[in-house]
Amino acid sequence: MISRIKGTNDIIEDSRIWEWLEGKLKNVALNFGFIETRTPIFEATELFNRSVGNETDIVQKEMYTFEDKGNRSITLRPEGTAPVMRAFIENNLLSKGLPQKLFYYGPMFRYERPQAGRMRQFHQFGVELIGSPLPIADAMTILLAIEMLKAIGLDKFKLKINSTGDEKCRPNYVEALKAYYKPFFNDLCDDCRVRYDRNVLRLLDCKKDAKYAENAPKITDYLCHDCKVHFDKLRKYLDEMEIEYEVDPSIVRGLDYYTRTVFEFKYPSLGAQDAIGGGGRYDRLIEELGGPKIPSIGFAFGIERLILALEEEGKLPKAEDLDVYIVSIDEDQRIEALKVASALSRYFKVDVDVMGRNVKGQFSYASKENARYTVVIGEEEIRTGLYTLKNMKTGEQSKVRLSEMIKEINGAK
Ligand code: HAM
Repeated sequence: MISRIKGTNDIIEDSRIWEWLEGKLKNVALNFGFIETRTPIFEATELFNRSVGNETDIVQKEMYTFEDKGNRSITLRPEGTAPVMRAFIENNLLSKGLPQKLFYYGPMFRYERPQAGRMRQFHQFGVELIGSPLPIADAMTILLAIEMLKAIGLDKFKLKINSTGDEKCRPNYVEALKAYYKPFFNDLCDDCRVRYDRNVLRLLDCKKDAKYAENAPKITDYLCHDCKVHFDKLRKYLDEMEIEYEVDPSIVRGLDYYTRTVFEFKYPSLGAQDAIGGGGRYDRLIEELGGPKIPSIGFAFGIERLILALEEEGKLPKAEDLDVYIVSIDEDQRIEALKVASALSRYFKVDVDVMGRNVKGQFSYASKENARYTVVIGEEEIRTGLYTLKNMKTGEQSKVRLSEMIKEINGAK
């Protein structure tokens, strides 16, 4: 037997949950005036090297990169922001005016060690607000994310925010951080010893070396005037909107393109993989990809993790029961049963026997599928046009015409 690739999932019985979730998230995004973009699942490798960053774990260890038959280096997208920015530049969306408000949904690929909530093919729902340098854009983006979490009914999430400064103040902070970690260098984990030179900020969110991070210098003490004003204004807006948050200096994010505001939504009971979503401002990314200098901000939710969190809160939508099962007494009535199914299917969830089961078998199948009603079709029913409609919960039966049947089933809904 050929099995699925490690870290991937087949979605079969749960597809209705996925549809429901996508629908809810999409609805909120559309109501906030965002429009959907669909970019290819693979891109030139260089796109991610230049945006996510050469020194990040994603680029160093996690990308699905291969050469195609034309010797081009191709990568399955590990995230959605860089492709959307590439599309923004390539399709000259700037000519349509700013801001541009885009959302996307789809599979992403990272070669990570699979565990609960961590997949090699996972799905993100992401949002990008392109064009505003103002903290009100940060507030709106965070508000949008919260509205989405509310729309799906999640309660027990925590919003953590931080500022990672900009090209003016971050270098000083990097120096301070290196000086702080230097005495412990030999005690750090293997990954952190490598990150020390390449991307020292990541030492702050390493779970193994968390004890050192506690007393590390905080970026919020190193922000330049402009970054501080920006962060303070964002906090003021969040306070005014009564959005609960915590300023957490360990939120540094695993992608290099961020400037100033970064944030994550944590769902603590999910354990090690507790980030259900994350994002931030990326004021230089479009320029670094060869476009104009356009400040932007966005975030993405991980769909698999949202589903785990919803499961935990008992908020997953229940499977819809079958409304009507149409029972045919014998072979001659099967085609009539199909005709009734076709008429009722315009209003209800219906099913009809295709397995050649006898009447008893059809009734037990209807019970197993939790059918609310059954309709029995025999010779007499066809002759008189009066069908036996049975309410499977109460056991009540009545003889009704098709038009009355629709009313009766509807009335009981
Ligand atoms: P990210 O934090 O790398 O950000 O991913 C966003 C979310 O995707 C995470 O919070 C998590 O829920 C989910 N996720 C990430 N990796 C996995 C995995 N291996 N398995 C399951 N779920 C996963 C970004 O990707 C940015 N592009 C977000 C963004 C948009 N920033 C600005 N705009």
